[in-house]
Amino acid sequence: MPKIAVIPGDGIGVDVIAEAKKVLQTIAEVRGIPLEMTDFDYGVERYLQTGRPMPDGAEQELAKNFDAILLGAVGDPRAPFEKYASQLLFGLRFGLDLYVNVRPVKLLDARLCPLKDVTESDMNFIVFRENTEGAYSQVGGAFKFQTSDEVSIQLDINTRKGVQRIIEHAFVYARKKGLTRVCMSDKSNALPHAHGIWQRVFHEVSAQYPEIETSHLFVDALTAQMVKRPQQFQVVVTCNMFGDIITDLGAQLQGGLGLAASGNVNPGLIGMFEPVHGSAPKYAGKNIANPLGAILTSQLMLEHLGFEAEGELIERAVIQAMREGQVPAELGGKLGTKETGDYVCAAIRRLGS
Ligand code: NAD
Ligand code: IPM
Ligand code: MN
Repeated sequence: MPKIAVIPGDGIGVDVIAEAKKVLQTIAEVRGIPLEMTDFDYGVERYLQTGRPMPDGAEQELAKNFDAILLGAVGDPRAPFEKYASQLLFGLRFGLDLYVNVRPVKLLDARLCPLKDVTESDMNFIVFRENTEGAYSQVGGAFKFQTSDEVSIQLDINTRKGVQRIIEHAFVYARKKGLTRVCMSDKSNALPHAHGIWQRVFHEVSAQYPEIETSHLFVDALTAQMVKRPQQFQVVVTCNMFGDIITDLGAQLQGGLGLAASGNVNPGLIGMFEPVHGSAPKYAGKNIANPLGAILTSQLMLEHLGFEAEGELIERAVIQAMREGQVPAELGGKLGTKETGDYVCAAIRRLGS
């Protein structure tokens, strides 16, 4: 029986995860899958009370006792991000060595795309973001802090192991899915020391996949091409920081930040699944947030757990909600967070029975 640890987190994370849970519960009923979900209060309230967002060793406990983790979002104005939220988010991502951050950019309804004359088949690619190092290494510090002589440094660390395993993952995925194009993006022109390794490893790994066409774009050019000709992409692989930035762009190209899904995975081991968006404090608890990114994130989670058909049913229900305009304000509709979740659940029952 798949066991899922649920961490709603902060802000709208709580609102959207409630809907993702409803959807998972519906799928479990309709398809007869015995999903077991357990809630954890890891978040800002716990931090404010105890000084820590989660107990010591919680990551390993979760990995030991659960098949997947579903997370809403973290970040709250009452607690400095680096003292609190990064302990939780990076505690899980780095602590469990979830080196693959998978973020699909898939247009489900062309009417939601801000680009003109783009159809659903023109935008369907997957971004693999390195998720454990790069500019997120947390190695650095400040000297003469807060004086006019301040020197602030944080290292962009790119290891052979780290770069190789994410690039290999991109090729393995492409081969498995019968895809024929992998694009790698870095900034090795301006950052030859930090990013030259991406060029060298990409060249080496691609030699083992002769059937796959490779391309390279500097990340500035990649952002332009994502807007100009998104149909050229099937698989994009990049470093931690660039993957973060281009997937917010990708989210907006699909219709909105509240729509984008993501998974943090150590292949073959546990995965932690979370929408791309953050805790958007100004919308928290107001039944405004778009829950579809969290709902599509639960699709990614089900796929990871081996329930691909059930995941697909979620996607079909979400597409139906979009086609019928039964969506929240972010996507031009009138439904609240809860009503959107209810609509998707009803669509699952219709489509799945
Ligand atoms: P954000 O994604 O929370 O919100 C940015 C804007 O996008 C919002 O103001 C809103 O207009 C829109 N938006 C985002 N999600 C939406 C949704 N589901 N429905 C409707 N509109 C939505 O980004 P931010 O404002 O930069 O960050 C807020 C906090 O969240 C910060 O503390 C930040 O560090 C954190 N954050 C956390 C995660 C995470 O937990 N993975 C991701 C991004 C940001
Ligand atoms: C994301 C977020 C995080 C990141 C922040 C909150 C540290 O933006 O998951 O995309 O940069 O990875
Ligand atoms: Mn981000």
